[in-house]
Amino acid sequence: MNPPNTENIYLPKLAVLDRVVDDIPEVKTFYWRFEDPAEQAKFKHFRPGQFAQVSLFGVGEFPASLPPSPTEEETFFTIRQVGSCTSALHQLKPRDKFAVRGPYGNGFPMEEYEGRNLTFVAGGIGLIPLRSCIVYALQNRAKYGRIQVFYGAKTPGELMYLTDLRAWEKGGAMECHLTVDRAANGWDGHVGVVGSLFKKSGVDMPVDNTTAFVCGPPVMFRFVIKDLLALGFKENHIMSTLERYMKCGVGKCGHCCIGVAYICVDGPVFTYEQIKKLGEDI
Ligand SMILES: Cc1cc2nc3c(=O)[nH]c(=O)nc-3n(C[C@H](O)[C@H](O)[C@H](O)COP(=O)(O)OP(=O)(O)OC[C@H]3O[C@@H](n4cnc5c(N)ncnc54)[C@H](O)[C@@H]3O)c2cc1C
Ligand code: FES
Repeated sequence: MNPPNTENIYLPKLAVLDRVVDDIPEVKTFYWRFEDPAEQAKFKHFRPGQFAQVSLFGVGEFPASLPPSPTEEETFFTIRQVGSCTSALHQLKPRDKFAVRGPYGNGFPMEEYEGRNLTFVAGGIGLIPLRSCIVYALQNRAKYGRIQVFYGAKTPGELMYLTDLRAWEKGGAMECHLTVDRAANGWDGHVGVVGSLFKKSGVDMPVDNTTAFVCGPPVMFRFVIKDLLALGFKENHIMSTLERYMKCGVGKCGHCCIGVAYICVDGPVFTYEQIKKLGEDI
């Protein structure tokens, strides 16, 4: 008989910050690794769309998406400073320690989309949870059809992962269409909400063989869903991630419940069909 598993599921493992890179105002990317290489090796088996709980000693814990693809060399979080925990992380310097537990949540079932076209639609920091899927799809390019990214932010200075977006586009592996609500700093690209890119650049691929991934602020989500449904996308071919206040992250405390679903274990990835059934008012 196997000995009982006595590991405390709430106990995070020590992590060391390697470097911090400014992304857009109030958003930084934190490259880190577990102090124990064995923990690092275990953690690398996460799926795109999963999240982790990040602990700042004496402050608290918060959920954060995993923006790297599992096969990328470095592990990192991209975090907007909004309150006590995220501010404490933003104060850390290279070699400082914090703690991480996870990965948690269902993630995107990337195998189910093989053979299909992928359309990613993101607004603002909604690109963070989608980054992992985009990189995963590019690393497994032969398994997917056409890949398009439609991404919008309020101003050009608030477009995230710009270096990545430009690199991914190179060689024609994927198309990237950008827009801003307000042009500035010599921006000569598209101006308008992200859905207006559909008309300009065209989701001109057969929608019955295309899966759409939508992440962004609620107002963007509502309009983009309307546009995608009008283009003929089926509700079960539109994927998104839901954000809720979380405490345990492992289906025990009930903080994240919407109806019968625990966002931390049944999600955070849901189809639009499921989101509608949950009665979620996004
Ligand atoms: C699954 C999941 C993945 C996430 N991934 C990321 C990520 O990759 N990068 C990132 O920057 N953020 C992410 N978030 C949001 C992040 O968890 C919150 O911003 C964080 O918990 C705030 O903690 P805090 O202590 O700094 O702020 P607090 O002091 O707790 O709150 C500050 C302000 O932020 C608001 N707030 C706090 N949490 C949330 C939330 N979950 N949704 C909406 N408003 C909130 C509060 O109402 C308050 O106004 C994610 C959330 C979830 C549930
Ligand atoms: S965060 Fe505790 S049940 Fe989901």
